[in-house]
Amino acid sequence: MSAEPSRMRFRTRAVHAGQDPDPGTGDTIPPIHLSTTYTQHGVGRHQGFEYSRTANPTRAALEELIAALEGAERGLAFASGMAATHAVFSLLPAGSHLILSGDVYGGTYRLVTQDMVRRGVAFTLADSSNPEAVGALVSESTRMLFLETPTNPLLKIADIAALKRAVGERVLVVVDNTFATPYFQRPLDLGADIVVHSSTKYLAGHSDVVGGLVATSDDDSYQSLKFIQNAAGAVPSPFDCYLTIRGIKTLALRMEAHEANARVVADFLAAQDCVLAVYHPSHVAGNDAVLVSRQMSGSSGIVSFRIRGGEAAAHAFLENLRLFSLAESLGGVESLACLPAAMTHACFEPELRSRLGITPDLVRLSVGIEDETDLLEDVRQALARAGDGATSL
Ligand SMILES: Cc1ncc(COP(=O)(O)O)c(C=O)c1O
Repeated sequence: MSAEPSRMRFRTRAVHAGQDPDPGTGDTIPPIHLSTTYTQHGVGRHQGFEYSRTANPTRAALEELIAALEGAERGLAFASGMAATHAVFSLLPAGSHLILSGDVYGGTYRLVTQDMVRRGVAFTLADSSNPEAVGALVSESTRMLFLETPTNPLLKIADIAALKRAVGERVLVVVDNTFATPYFQRPLDLGADIVVHSSTKYLAGHSDVVGGLVATSDDDSYQSLKFIQNAAGAVPSPFDCYLTIRGIKTLALRMEAHEANARVVADFLAAQDCVLAVYHPSHVAGNDAVLVSRQMSGSSGIVSFRIRGGEAAAHAFLENLRLFSLAESLGGVESLACLPAAMTHACFEPELRSRLGITPDLVRLSVGIEDETDLLEDVRQALARAGDGATSL
């Protein structure tokens, strides 16, 4: 390509960024570089690659790609979303303070409460939907605010720009952008300092590769993260990088399809007597609706809902699904369903879980890209079986 992908529109960048034809062979698709080491012309004279933990050409292509999609100067790839989050938390020195949005993925909460605390990092759980209250938590030692928006599993929306203003320049704002993806939301444009992803989800998109990505334009953070990536070595394999690059090429098409199906499923659920509440960015009102349209260009394929009849009804619904798989994870082309209280968020203390609204009757759906009629039919029959006359259809 002669044109520079970073200047192009999203869909073009998703297909081309970081993927110039191989200068040696002309490969149009970045090869899977399996070599762990690189032959040097003389001591210290090489083509930018010495040892594959430090840098690998397939990984470099993926890192350039995520940076281009998030509008960042630099990107970094890790072996999982949690490895990426762990690297970001390692920016916090002992004695520092982290503000953690309460409504985050259970594994992130577990990492903070069971590992970061042991390393001398203090944390405060915050309600990220209230920027003023978050700002009031900032102290001399506060170094980072970590949040998700939309959140997992309740799809709450946080105002990234207002949060950055509230915590100030000195505090790094880190956004886990896994649910929205850069196709629908670009946190760095809104003032965030670092974006993290579980690329296991929408970015790779086919439930066949675990990975994590970081994007930032803050050079100090990048240098420290790059150091940790090499020093700790939680890097993805070249094959995993290839799969993620391949998945990202169709991100825009998939996100449109996920969103369209999720809206239909959310609307259907909202019309059922047996559904107590529906959580999806298309089902928020008032200021949150204004925020969604200002901050996001679309929503997500995740829909959560509370079913009448409590935990037993939730189990019955999940166990009667035929097309949706009862499984952890999300963001793949196939539809999945789970019970966050017992699965993805089981590591929260029960009292905190219920305070956050992650109740035993809360079901999370990752709506795939199958035909919407088949998806609706599956949800309808599972609801009907979950409780006599549960569906009004
Ligand atoms: C929002 C979010 N962030 C991070 C993670 C962790 O990612 P991984 O499973 O790739 O380590 C998950 C996993 O479900 C997630 O949902």
